[in-house]
Amino acid sequence: MNEGLEGVVAARTVLSDVDGAAGRLVLRGQSLDALAGRWRFEQVLALLWDGFFDVPVEAHAMPPALGRARLEAAALLRPEDAQALAALAPVDALRALLARLPDGDDLPTALRLVAATGVFTAAVLRWRAGGSALAPQADAPHAADVLRLAQGRAPTAQQAAALDTYLVTVADHGLNASTFAARVVASTGAGLASAVLVGLSALKGPLHGGAPGPVLDMLDAIGSADAADDWLQAALDRGERLMGFGHRIYRVRDPRADALKGALRQLAAAGGVGGERLALAEAVERAALASLQARKPGRVLETNVEFYTALLLEALGLPREAFTAVFAMGRVGGWIAHAREQARTGRLIRPQSLYVGPAPGSVRAVAEPQPA
Ligand code: ACO
Repeated sequence: MNEGLEGVVAARTVLSDVDGAAGRLVLRGQSLDALAGRWRFEQVLALLWDGFFDVPVEAHAMPPALGRARLEAAALLRPEDAQALAALAPVDALRALLARLPDGDDLPTALRLVAATGVFTAAVLRWRAGGSALAPQADAPHAADVLRLAQGRAPTAQQAAALDTYLVTVADHGLNASTFAARVVASTGAGLASAVLVGLSALKGPLHGGAPGPVLDMLDAIGSADAADDWLQAALDRGERLMGFGHRIYRVRDPRADALKGALRQLAAAGGVGGERLALAEAVERAALASLQARKPGRVLETNVEFYTALLLEALGLPREAFTAVFAMGRVGGWIAHAREQARTGRLIRPQSLYVGPAPGSVRAVAEPQPA
């Protein structure tokens, strides 16, 4: 039996191919290199979704449709919820808010879920900062509008482009844990809102989408490049995992790390990232890769998407405790596509378990059954 289901093929998909040996990610015939920094998030949603709804999903129609959906989502926010939801971790507040959306399998439901993930996360960040939720601008690009809603001011063109690149980079990634969870729910015939809620719940764990906040904690704790090696060795001696390194599928560098590093460099060129922070991160990355290679010579442990996610989202002024919710803003597009693809197979996902408990009669009952 294979506890982590490594190597088990559990779905056929036309959506994304993660080639772990070549370090390549393909979304519906387009390589990540061709998409990141070139396609807008709305176009990538159309790429992933077309053919999975009763109506065609056309790229040119997506920006206004998503803009209208952001207005609808904002109308569901209640100022009286601000205090209670601001007290939760942003990803938990997002989960509570998304749970209010109606379920369904159609394109309006899908658009509402993507729009709401951005609008609700931004509102939670405003509430946590003591402010109130702002009104979306339906005619703005999704990434730029969500960043404005979160920060309370219009982002620069480079900041908006960087978030857009991020959302595209994380939009879909094969049968990762959250996508698999979403497909299991969709296979039962439950709707897209149910599948997205489950995807979000799986994403939040530190072994999946919860790593980028801890990456920054690690950089802060290390403090300076010359302290990196000692700090990392001590963490590994304690048996800790270094956040932002290693991957179940990639045996070479995660291509998403390079896409995000490229976006970060562009932001740095425009003065949007502190050079010292970037230099510290690069020194920590070098030291971590060397330590991991020395300790696990038989296993390639490379930089994963979360390391540069952490730096990029920090440079955009987003607080680290919100990084998982921001990840969900992009990945929600993939969850929806996979949920529709799975639902259309009409096949329930229902694997088996191997019973390793006691045989009947071999253990004393805790309480004897009472006569009726
Ligand atoms: N730091 C230190 N050691 C590591 C790391 C790491 N980041 N990653 C793996 N290892 C070690 C394991 O402890 C294991 O050692 P062992 O054989 O002595 O037990 C060995 O390398 C093999 O690791 P696996 O557990 O088989 O790797 P797996 O494929 O199960 O794990 C995972 C992948 C969960 C991502 C792991 O690399 C990890 O915990 N990384 C840190 C957390 C992280 O960055 N998560 C984000 C992943 S990207 C994403 O989901 C969006």
